[in-house]
Amino acid sequence: MPAVPFKTRAKAAIRPYWRHARDLWRLARFCIYDFHRFRRFSGTFPLRMSSGAEAARITKYYHMIEKGLALSAPRPGFGHYAIGELCELLEKSMIEGRQGQHIGHALDTLLAYRDFNAHSDGATPDCVERVITQAQVQKIACVPGATKAVTRAEITEAIGFDAERFFSTRYSVRQFSDAPVDRADLEAAIRIAQTTPSVCNRQSARVHIIIDPAQRAELLRFQNGNRGFGESMGALAIITADLSHFVEPSERYQAWIDGGLFAMTFALGLHARGLGSCFLNWSASVENDRALRAAMNLPDEETVITFLAIGTLRETFIVARSPRKPLDQVVTLDAF
Ligand SMILES: Cc1cc2nc3c(=O)[nH]c(=O)nc-3n(C[C@H](O)[C@H](O)[C@H](O)COP(=O)(O)O)c2cc1C
Repeated sequence: MPAVPFKTRAKAAIRPYWRHARDLWRLARFCIYDFHRFRRFSGTFPLRMSSGAEAARITKYYHMIEKGLALSAPRPGFGHYAIGELCELLEKSMIEGRQGQHIGHALDTLLAYRDFNAHSDGATPDCVERVITQAQVQKIACVPGATKAVTRAEITEAIGFDAERFFSTRYSVRQFSDAPVDRADLEAAIRIAQTTPSVCNRQSARVHIIIDPAQRAELLRFQNGNRGFGESMGALAIITADLSHFVEPSERYQAWIDGGLFAMTFALGLHARGLGSCFLNWSASVENDRALRAAMNLPDEETVITFLAIGTLRETFIVARSPRKPLDQVVTLDAF
């Protein structure tokens, strides 16, 4: 066997150290990039609170009250801290003439909270009356409501189908037919995606749909996993999350969690409408993230979560097998 030249051996020996150092440096840069984006565009720092951040905070606090009212036995007069914060934010919002569904929903919740305390001998803080009066003066429509009743029969009826089959026939599709994607199907799938839970119901997820092939090709240049099928999709979705909806340093990863959950439900919604889809990762470098943002003119506060290729199904097509791990490698049960 011919001897391996010294230069080749030396290169092979050095390579892992070089890669280690390079990736440590890249990791640090990427984390610093994310840190600065969260610092600048999240709703964490009240000195520069955008209207989006204010709406997110209002939603956070009214949701604390509505979920309190959804407990089996809410404590009379519960939630004074959340009520105080909510009243302060609502008063400011109304005085500054801001509008939006969140204000109406927050007022509905305050009315329900006042009714609950009136029927359970709980104390309602004075600010609640003040805010309700202010809303009446400004003629903002609200009706008491923070919870709704659900029956087991409703749910049993709704799940009376082969759910396992539904989930197990969602594949990552990389071969699409030429038929265009129907906008009504996209809209229906987005409505389904909107049923996704999100932290305090803040609903930070956004979806950008690009149907025009030239625009799609322009954006797909920045993504590294669509080679060989990118051009065949009927629509590209770019799912983002609005950082202004996150209001604490501890929520620094919430955009990816809420955005990821939304993206999954969207994919299932597309499947429910008979469309195929394939996630396309946005495990992007700082440079690629900046380039994409500039190309699509993405608002600063939106963080890209993932791309999703969407298309109509062929009569028959091939998918990767993508076998799953055995259950015992995924789950531990009572193993503390
Ligand atoms: C966040 C995410 C990113 C992905 N990125 C890519 C990608 O860039 N290109 C690709 O062809 N598939 C991509 N996939 C698809 C996975 O390969 C696929 O989901 C996995 O193999 C399981 O197969 P299944 O979706 O058919 O069940 C991605 C999936 C996820 C969830």
